[in-house]
Amino acid sequence: MSTRTILITGGAGFIGSHVVRLFVNKYPDYRIINLDKLTYAGNLANLKDIEDKPNYSFVKADICDFDTVLKVITDNRVDGIIHLAAESHVDRSIKDPFTFAQTNVIGTLSMLQAAKAYWESLPEKYEGKRFYHISTDEVYGALELTHPEGIEPPFTTKASSGKHHLAYGESFFTEDLKYQPHSPYSAAKASSDHFVRAFHDTYGMPTIVTNCSNNYGPYQFPEKLIPLFVNNIRHRKPLPVYGKGENVRDWLYVEDHARAIDLIFHEGTVAETYNIGGFNEWKNIDIVKTLIRVTDRLLGRPEGADDDLITYVTDRAGHDLRYAIDSRKLQKELGWEPSLQFEEGIEKTIRWYLENQDWLDNVTSGDYQKYYEEMYKGR
Ligand code: NAD
Ligand code: DAU
Repeated sequence: MSTRTILITGGAGFIGSHVVRLFVNKYPDYRIINLDKLTYAGNLANLKDIEDKPNYSFVKADICDFDTVLKVITDNRVDGIIHLAAESHVDRSIKDPFTFAQTNVIGTLSMLQAAKAYWESLPEKYEGKRFYHISTDEVYGALELTHPEGIEPPFTTKASSGKHHLAYGESFFTEDLKYQPHSPYSAAKASSDHFVRAFHDTYGMPTIVTNCSNNYGPYQFPEKLIPLFVNNIRHRKPLPVYGKGENVRDWLYVEDHARAIDLIFHEGTVAETYNIGGFNEWKNIDIVKTLIRVTDRLLGRPEGADDDLITYVTDRAGHDLRYAIDSRKLQKELGWEPSLQFEEGIEKTIRWYLENQDWLDNVTSGDYQKYYEEMYKGR
C-alpha cells in the first residue's frame, strides 16, 4: 500500500500519542497529521519528543466539525485515516451520555462523510485509501466469570506465559460475536463501529475495525484505574475499588497496541475486524494489590505499608463482569503477539508515573479536580 499522508485523530490522548510517536519515528517519509480537539483528555505534552519532527503536524479541531475535517483532509490530500478520537471513560458516559453520542457517533460519521466526499472526488477514488477505526472490546458486552479462582488459559503467547496469567472463564470475545454493549460509552462505540462498516458495505470505502482490550502504560489520563491508583498510593489517598473488586479485565501494554495498529493499517484486510488483546486477565483487586506492592517497593516503603488504602465503594452502574479477548485471528493472519510480560510492563508503567509527577499534576489540575470531587461525592 502506498499511503503517505496519514491523518490520526485523537493523537494527543493516551493511545493516540503512542500511535503518533510510532508512525512519526518509524516512517520519516510519511506525513503524519494529528487532529485533536484537546479535550480534558488530550495533552500535547504527550508528544513533546516528536513535535518538532518535519513529518509531523498538529491541527486543533473537533471531529464533529465536518467543514473543518473535510478541509484538512482535502488540503493535505490525506490517503489514510486512523481514527482514535473519542470520549473514552465509562464513568463519564454514565453521567453524560449526550457527549458520548455526539463525539463517538456523530464525530465518527463526520470523519467518514468527509473522507468519502474527498476520496470520491478523486479519479482513483478509494484505491490506495484506508479508513481504520479504533474500537473497544466493550462493544461485545460482558463475559461470564465461571472460575472465580482462575483456570489454566486455553491460549498462551510468549508474553502471556508468565506465572500471573489465568483465565476466569471458558468463553472469550471473538470477532463474530454479536454486539451487546451495556454502558453509554460502549453503546456509542458500537454505533460508530456500525457506521464504519455501513460505509464499506454501502459506498465501498476501504475500512478496517479493531476491537482492543484494556490498555495500560505511560500518558494514560489518571481517571483510569492504573494511573489513578498509582498516584493515590504515592500520595497515600484512598483507592476506590468498585464493588468487591472481582471484575476481570484483559490488560495490554499500550505500545503493543500501537504495534498492532501499525501492522493492521499496512497489512490488514479491508472490511475485516481484528480483536487485539493480551491474553492477560486480571481481577481488579489483584491488580490493585500488585500496584500497591510494586509502587511501595519503588518508593522504598515497607511491604504492606499501603494495603489499608484499599476502600471498597459503590459499584459502577451496569459494571461489566469480565472482558477477555481472543486475539488468535490477528496472531494467525498477521503474526502479531503481545511482547511484554505483565510484570515487566506494569513495573515500567508505575516507574514512569512516579518519575513524571509534573505530568500528573499538570493534567489533574483545574477543572479535573472539580470533576473528581463530584464523581466520588457520596461514595
Ligand atoms: P483518551 O481519552 O486518552 O484520548 C482521547 C483523545 O481524543 C484526546 O486526545 C481528546 O482530546 C480527543 N478527542 C475527544 N473528543 C474529540 C473531538 N470531538 N474531536 C477531536 N478530538 C477529540 O482515549 P484513549 O484511551 O487513548 O482511547 C483512544 C481510542 O481507543 C478511543 O477510540 C477508545 O474508544 C479506544 N480504546 C481505548 C482503550 C483503552 O484501554 N484506553 C481500549 C480499546 C479501545
Ligand atoms: O476494555 C477496553 C476499555 O478499557 C476501553 O474501551 C475504555 O476506553 C477504557 O477506559 C477501559 O475501560 P474500563 O472501564 O475497563 O477501564 P477503567 O480503568 O475505568 O476501569 C478498569 C476496571 O477498574 C473496571 O472494572 C472498573 C474498575 N475501577 C475503575 C476505577 C477508575 C475501580 O474499581 N475503581 C476506579 O476508581
